[in-house]
Amino acid sequence: MTWSAPSPVQELDDERVRRAGVRLLLKRDDLLHPPVSGTKWRKLQPNLELAQREGHDTLLTFGGAYSNHLRAAAAAGREAGLRTVGVVRGDELRGRELNPVLAQAAADGMELEFVSRAQWRRRMEPESLDAFRRRYGRAWVVPEGGSNAEGVRGCVALGEELRDCGAELVCCSVGTGGMLAGLAAGLAPGQRALGFAALGHADLAAETRALQQDAFGGPRGDWAVDDAAAVFGGYGRRTPELDAFRADFEARHGLALDPTYETKLLWALFTRFVRLEAGAEAGAEAKAGAKAEAKAEAGTDAETAEPAVIAHGTTLVVVVAG
Ligand SMILES: Cc1ncc(COP(=O)(O)O)c(C=O)c1O
Repeated sequence: MTWSAPSPVQELDDERVRRAGVRLLLKRDDLLHPPVSGTKWRKLQPNLELAQREGHDTLLTFGGAYSNHLRAAAAAGREAGLRTVGVVRGDELRGRELNPVLAQAAADGMELEFVSRAQWRRRMEPESLDAFRRRYGRAWVVPEGGSNAEGVRGCVALGEELRDCGAELVCCSVGTGGMLAGLAAGLAPGQRALGFAALGHADLAAETRALQQDAFGGPRGDWAVDDAAAVFGGYGRRTPELDAFRADFEARHGLALDPTYETKLLWALFTRFVRLEAGAEAGAEAKAGAKAEAKAEAGTDAETAEPAVIAHGTTLVVVVAG
């Protein structure tokens, strides 16, 4: 079955979730628009439309050696009839056999240019962009991850599709911040987006804020970045613990999670569920006691504030982005 937006929402039937007293829904963006697949489609589609509207014949973009974004951009460009150029970090890869991700991008017609780390750091500076345009002509340049103002605005629909699903909290993984910036802008008042950092070396909250500024002219929605998932030594790092969690999740639910992104996010959440399960009863009793006290004091039905982000009774969504 292939899907175009809205992507389906599925409840996860998992004893660990039940024991924690929460409901967990999966937003299956991974089923969107194969072969581009996932939230990357939401970010790339408006960029392709803009490139074509403004008469560009090439889409030039950037990524690391294992970039899902480069592979997706190649497939999307091919479908739209637009030439694609991928600038890849690491000139040591030049002339070597391509890994499966880059081989797929090349098979979809992407021209690959390998640049040194020093060139990579300067890639978005005006002189570098001029040099790319001299080599590749009138190219529409899309930053790494597809996260520019168009890409962020393309992710607003992801939030809008979740307005009526009954969840208070929507969790997504964060690489560049583009998905979180758009998702948060699309949610209903009273819903909160929580981004789990997939890397530890960048201020992803600052980057998400800057993307919202570019896309909307200011902050939008209620969101935060959580660093709990960045503990595994940074972007792309895997550990036996994470691999075991991923394998177990696939065995239970038949869903192979992206190892770089959603595996870390779900690991962080399930770790929290275990803590919630351990403290659930005490928490519920404390809450009931506090409510009774507040009522007695005020003589009304006043609700007490709920300090925890994920509490007993929360319905949350995890975006499976790709
Ligand atoms: C599967 C998956 N999840 C999450 C992300 C993070 O998205 P962003 O870079 O917009 O923060 C990506 C990046 O493209 C991804 O491929």
